[in-house]
Order: sequence, then structure tokens, then C-alpha cells
Amino acid sequence: RKRVRVHHLREYKDRGEPWPMLTAYDMYTAELFDEAGIPVLLVGDSAANNVFGYDTSLPVDVDEMLPLVRAVTRSTTHALVVADLPFGSYQLSVEQAMGTAVRFMKEGRAHAVKLEGGRDFVPHVEALTSAGIPVMGHIGFTPQSEHNLGGYRVQGRGESGETMLADALALQEAGAFAVVMEMVPAEAAKRVTHELAIPTIGIGAGPHCDAQVLVWQDMAGLRRGKAPRFVKRYADVAGVLSSAAASFADEVRRGEFPAPEQSFH
Ligand code: KIV
Ligand code: NA
Repeated sequence: RKRVRVHHLREYKDRGEPWPMLTAYDMYTAELFDEAGIPVLLVGDSAANNVFGYDTSLPVDVDEMLPLVRAVTRSTTHALVVADLPFGSYQLSVEQAMGTAVRFMKEGRAHAVKLEGGRDFVPHVEALTSAGIPVMGHIGFTPQSEHNLGGYRVQGRGESGETMLADALALQEAGAFAVVMEMVPAEAAKRVTHELAIPTIGIGAGPHCDAQVLVWQDMAGLRRGKAPRFVKRYADVAGVLSSAAASFADEVRRGEFPAPEQSFH
């Protein structure tokens, strides 16, 4: 199988074939998801609160993200790997965005980058795409702006649906190859999906988007506690891991592990 390219995603849209995207941050998950046929893997800045233990996505920086991007690109042969630009690594200027994106492409060996924001980021998207770097947009609820948006809230309701459509069209015009829509009403996401030639990728954006993305720890039930409404858990990885750890601990304490077959003689 050949590497997925951005034009393939456009072909899926034209054929009306919905496609899945997942986050990945390390070797084993990247390999498994690649083999499972997930065409796009996102090394999200959600690593902040799913890998590094921060409480929001804001603190994670480029030097923390780069090794994760490298691990994921090294471990896939098929998926298109998108590196998420962390907060503060592209907002300062077009030059800063270019510098950060180039690092993710050269050092991380990413195939594309993603950044949050609408019309205000048209110059950044134009500069990156002109430099040969495919850009994925991200609108609706954008976690890096949570303090400005008043927390995790549905965006694009009523009037602001028009603003969101204008943002999406501006990103497409600037050269973006796809756009993530997070936590927006299904009807608004449907409209944007219909108006755009490039694929839309929904997370909490209803069933009409061209693609769907979830954070893998949410999808596989590794993260515990109350999940957002848009999450569906397809497994109980937390349960599997905690019972494995408990069994191991128990066998060690009882002197049952290692048995002769795990020992050298
Ligand atoms: O960081 C992330 O995981 C994301 C996706 C949820 C789209 O931005
Ligand atoms: Na993100």
C-alpha cells in the first residue's frame, strides 16, 4: 500500500466515502492504527492532556511534540501524518508559523501540519502552502482559545454559523487541504461540508462531515471519567491495563512470577 496523500482525501470526498482519523503519539498505537487502515494520523497537541499530564492543551511546546511526531512517522508506512502546531508556536507571526512548520516537516518528518483559527490565519496558511507544506485548518471550538471562548462550549450556533462558514471558505481559499470542525451543531457542519470542496473532519460536529476524528485514548477507553458527549468508547483499554497490572502485582507478591518457564537455567 502506498502512502496516503492529500489528494486522496479529496477523492474520498468526491466519492462520498467517509473516512476516519485518530490521534497517535507513539510507536505501537501508530503501527496498529496504520495497519487498521486509518488513513490520517494526527499527532495532536492533545498530547498535552493525554500524554504529558497537563490540564489543558496550552502548556505543551514544540520540543515536547517533536519526538512524538518523529515516533509516529517512523512507525507508519501508509498513513498521512499531521503534526499539530502547539499554542504559541505560530500565532506570533507568519515567520514564526513558517519556522515551526519547517521544524515539524524536517525534524519530525511530518507530512502536513495543523493549526487552529479562521480568517486571521489566512496569511499563515498561504505562506506555508506556498512553501510546500500542506495545512489542515481547525475551527469551531478551538482548545487553544478555551480561555477566550469561555471553556468547552459548542460554537457556530445561530449567527456565528455564518462566521464559521466564512472562516472555512477563507482557509480553503488560502490553500488548506482539509479543515477540522470541533463541537459545532450538526446542521452548521453539514452546510460547511456542502460548501467546501476540501474535506471537513468532524469531532462533535455530527454525521455529515467528510471525516471523523477522535483522540485515541477517548476512542479506546484509556481515559477514564466522564467523557464529552461526542466521544464513543470502542473498548475498555483502561480496564484491560489495570487488571493486567493488578494480576502481575499479585503474582509477584505470591511468588508465582516468574515461573520456571520464564526463568533461565
Ligand atoms: O489535538 C487534537 O487531538 C486535535 C483533534 C481532536 C482534532 O486537535
Ligand atoms: Na489540537
